[in-house]
Amino acid sequence: MRERDFDHPEVVLCPDGPMLLRGARSVQDADGTVHPVRRPVVALCRCEKSSRLPWCDGTHKVIPKG
Ligand code: FES
Repeated sequence: MRERDFDHPEVVLCPDGPMLLRGARSVQDADGTVHPVRRPVVALCRCEKSSRLPWCDGTHKVIPKG
């Protein structure tokens, strides 16, 4: 992937929640798998408990805060 192929999305970190990306075309996970983005805004899981990784499925809302 050439540098000019990289997206420059807006990033918003939600407290105790996901990372919101606006304007991304794809997301590459830690295993190197590239996930195409088909929505204007997507939520990436930061708690690693989602059943739909790398996407947030709302599970973070039921995790006890430690
Ligand atoms: S941040 Fe929402 S499920 Fe992990």
